[in-house]
Amino acid sequence: MKIIRAKDYNDMSRKAANIISAQVILKPESVLGLATGSSPIGIYEQLIKWYHKGDVDFGACTTFNLDEYRGLTPDHDQSYHYFMHKNFFDAVNVPDERINLPDGAQLDAERECRRYDAAIRAAGGIDLQLLGMGLNGHIGFNEPDEYFSKGTHCVNLTESTIEANKRFFASADDVPRQAYTMGVQTIMLARRIVLVVSGENKAKTVREAFFGPVTPRVPASILQLHTDVSIVADEAALSLCTDLL
Ligand code: F6R
Repeated sequence: MKIIRAKDYNDMSRKAANIISAQVILKPESVLGLATGSSPIGIYEQLIKWYHKGDVDFGACTTFNLDEYRGLTPDHDQSYHYFMHKNFFDAVNVPDERINLPDGAQLDAERECRRYDAAIRAAGGIDLQLLGMGLNGHIGFNEPDEYFSKGTHCVNLTESTIEANKRFFASADDVPRQAYTMGVQTIMLARRIVLVVSGENKAKTVREAFFGPVTPRVPASILQLHTDVSIVADEAALSLCTDLL
């Protein structure tokens, strides 16, 4: 596990965008696993700038997002479809037919999860998966639990995740209670993983996840077992790990 130290959020975003951009330059037909939330926004902004300068071209890429709220249609302004189009896809050239997210409007969970896993397999698997990490150590919507999940599945969101996400909705009552998410196994099958983490509020989780025992109680800790993972973390996120670095 490589820990890449960044000064602050902007530096973290540029460093991670460099890794993604190198991936796409080396393999233009890369299958990219993408994330939503505040952590990757700076990365998308940087990649859009480089795309417009002609430094990176997404025209042969395929993308699979980690997760989507169950029950939200793609045009809902809090759906991850909407987020991804607004923050990335509308400004770059990933072909529409190669953009993939779980379909939140498909309420048959089993059918949707099987379809999504089959689509990832049919694309040849994920070359590079970008991840953020929740305050409780979740990756995708894989929340702390007694076991690690496998493929794409439907989850009930925890109170802490509903609380963290309510800032995007009119009230906590409007936050969907369920989501479709890639499972921990789906994530671990990616050939390469880049996790970005920023801010002092995640410092304790960073220490637990990357320097503590591997446990489903801290889902991101499983990444310690992956053979090609880079954690790009800013100083604030690493502030409780200085004795270990
Ligand atoms: C989003 C996702 C989540 C977030 C995590 C951190 O697609 O998979 O696991 O990465 O909740 O969110 P932020 O970046 O908003 O702190």
